[in-house]
Amino acid sequence: MFFTLEGIDGSGKTTASKIVVDRLTAEGYDVILTREPGGDRIAEQLRKFILSTENPEITSGTESLLYIAARKQHVDTKIAPAVAAGKIVICDRFMDSTTAYQGYGRNQDVNKIDSIQSLVLEANMPIKTFFFDIAPNKVVSRLNNRGNLDRLELEGLQFQERVYKGYLALVKKYSSRFVVINADQDQESVANNLYNELVKVLKK
Ligand code: TMP
Repeated sequence: MFFTLEGIDGSGKTTASKIVVDRLTAEGYDVILTREPGGDRIAEQLRKFILSTENPEITSGTESLLYIAARKQHVDTKIAPAVAAGKIVICDRFMDSTTAYQGYGRNQDVNKIDSIQSLVLEANMPIKTFFFDIAPNKVVSRLNNRGNLDRLELEGLQFQERVYKGYLALVKKYSSRFVVINADQDQESVANNLYNELVKVLKK
């Protein structure tokens, strides 16, 4: 079974997912946690390249294709084989990140991005996507405290606002796939929320 986690930068999905995966593993579930961009050796190299502040001249179109290329590599080498082997795969960011960030955030044609993605991804789609919902102005201080921000995180509040609006549009459009997690709570509550929603699907 394939699940994905989505949300703006600083929404807390990475922390929550680690807690939840440890808990599921302790309970005997065969689960792997992976992330995008990245997840395998080649895609992690692409990640460094895409996010490096030394590459400011990457165009929006190139950026979209690089994320999708990294995704293709990750799906082929890691996600699809693990799902085929019966594992639970939880991926921190996936195709909706490209629609939200490159489509809505960078003001590119969302339909065009989606059609390229569906060509590349074929049947490798998540069965559920957990959207960590928190408004961008609430995470500004969290992000600033992180230091060492990457090329995308440095885009600022207006960019994150467009990305957030993009996510809300996706949640509405794909309402049966998306589950909204209230991310405007303490870490433990967010993790519990994610755990409960995941277990609901696993026990079906
Ligand atoms: P991360 O910090 O959540 O690991 O993600 C790295 C950055 O890349 C984050 O700012 C979101 C961005 N991103 C995109 O813009 N498009 C994508 O398709 C993905 C997967 C991530």
